[in-house]
Amino acid sequence: MNKAVTRGVGYADLHDHIAALDAAGLLYRIDEPVNKDTELHPLVRWQFRGGIAEPDRKAFLFTNVVDGSGRRYDIPLIVGGIAANPEIYRIGMNVPTREEIGPAWERAIANPIPPRVVETGPVQDIVVTGDALRGPGNGMESLPVPISTPGFDAAPFLTMTGVITRDPVTGVQNMGTYRGHLKGPTHLGCMMLANLRSGGLEHWRKYKERGERMPIAILLGAPPLVTFQGPQKLPLGFDELSVAGGLAGVPIDVVKGRTVDLLVPARAEIVVEGYVDTEYLEPEGPFGESHGYVALEDYNMIIEVTAITRRRDAVMTSIISQVTPSESSVVKRLAYEPMYLSHLRDRLGIHGLTRVALHEPLTNLRRFVFLQFKTGTARSEIWRALEGALALQAAIGKFVVAIDEDIDPDNADAVFWAMSYRCNPVEDTRVVPHREPGHGPRTEGTPLVDSAMLIDATMKSPMPPLALPKREYMERAKILWERLGLPGLRPETPWHGYSLGDWTEEWDENARLAAEGRWMERSGAYAQRRRAGIEPNISVRSVEDRDDG
Ligand SMILES: Cc1cc2nc3c(=O)[nH]c(=O)nc-3n(C[C@H](O)[C@H](O)[C@H](O)COP(=O)(O)O)c2cc1C
Repeated sequence: MNKAVTRGVGYADLHDHIAALDAAGLLYRIDEPVNKDTELHPLVRWQFRGGIAEPDRKAFLFTNVVDGSGRRYDIPLIVGGIAANPEIYRIGMNVPTREEIGPAWERAIANPIPPRVVETGPVQDIVVTGDALRGPGNGMESLPVPISTPGFDAAPFLTMTGVITRDPVTGVQNMGTYRGHLKGPTHLGCMMLANLRSGGLEHWRKYKERGERMPIAILLGAPPLVTFQGPQKLPLGFDELSVAGGLAGVPIDVVKGRTVDLLVPARAEIVVEGYVDTEYLEPEGPFGESHGYVALEDYNMIIEVTAITRRRDAVMTSIISQVTPSESSVVKRLAYEPMYLSHLRDRLGIHGLTRVALHEPLTNLRRFVFLQFKTGTARSEIWRALEGALALQAAIGKFVVAIDEDIDPDNADAVFWAMSYRCNPVEDTRVVPHREPGHGPRTEGTPLVDSAMLIDATMKSPMPPLALPKREYMERAKILWERLGLPGLRPETPWHGYSLGDWTEEWDENARLAAEGRWMERSGAYAQRRRAGIEPNISVRSVEDRDDG
């Protein structure tokens, strides 16, 4: 468990989290000046494109952020601190193992704890409003906001945000992660996607109907349990801060915003307060998107910043997104996979489903969904799951593939292997029309309506064993390999043969005798079973079964 929990409040703030990452050897502290507009994100990007294994990816804490004009920022910036790898996320979730992440989400969603309003909090140690926000170097310009994709992005963008808005009718707050385009000291763009059913956009529409501007508060760094709520897809009308309380087991302390009637976490690092215009929109972007392509300019929302509040020791958070794997895909994957498993297994009651995996590298989670089943699961259950997987979110599930439990869904080669030998496309696939195109690059040819393909790549009947030496032989050979001082091995699944149901005791006995060097003992038995009048390549069983009667 994470021992570094903010004194007395029961959940870690970002400073506790950074200390826990450091203690776990998961933090690089970079004290030399790094240019936020040209060097910072490209440096951390190498972690995801440089052949570094997922467990070896770490958080980067930049303590000396500068820009091209030589300006130094007094706020450190953390990148990768939320989810450079699953272990970093696990530490933030304060659960003992990765397997506990899903159940922790399920418990918190089922048992939310509403936030507790307190009078003051460190997030308002420093409050900047009015004229102090304006002019060069002030307001948004005072924050070390990096450029994520230099060469393509139009400006520095806020990335790891917690954007809080309130339903003007019900009064329930929503928090989502939406990007913010820096345009001036008090001038921001914001994109809330319709195809992802963004909660903030639903609120904006309601304010627009009333002819009112929308109050907004943007968290830039917060206790990890709060930050994790931003990308989590909860039903609209669910206050994410209550789910954060459910994860913490205690209410999240919140304070009133200084210039907006919204509640913000008292232990957040930085909060940008403001109002969203509901009449005018402005060009926003280009920005490198989480689907891996650059999102081109769209008309999007305009925010007028009215306050920036912060802790005295604030640390700002930015996230690596764009081409996957990325920090953004890790954070979403760890939140979405358990939600899909619980939707299919617990809510739809599908028997035999053991795992849901969203494919991450380059495809960005939403396109390929792999459903893993126990061997022998009824086909009716497999098809119920394939169809059910399309139902939870409009944007997830373009290719949904059912696989057996011996197929590793984290290895796309293994999934192709299952599709190659366990699927007859004419019987085992179905194309479903009328799907939303979802979150992807916009091109002139992008159809307004997409479709999905469901693929059953599970075994339909017993299959012969996998043709690798049985486990015991491979294990003994590994000992020999190591004794001979051959290069280090990294076993890849499958690394040994196993039965897939079509195998007899007799064949097992043959193989055992063969391995003992006694294969010649069967010579007489083969001779006794000779047959005339048949063609080569005919199965022994079919001939002998026919002869038997
Ligand atoms: C790093 C990151 C950036 C994101 N940026 C946006 C964005 O700019 N606009 C958007 O609508 N969704 C964005 N998303 C996805 C939303 O956060 C996600 O759909 C979430 O469920 C939104 O919360 P909501 O369901 O309360 O709207 C982003 C997610 C991550 C992890």
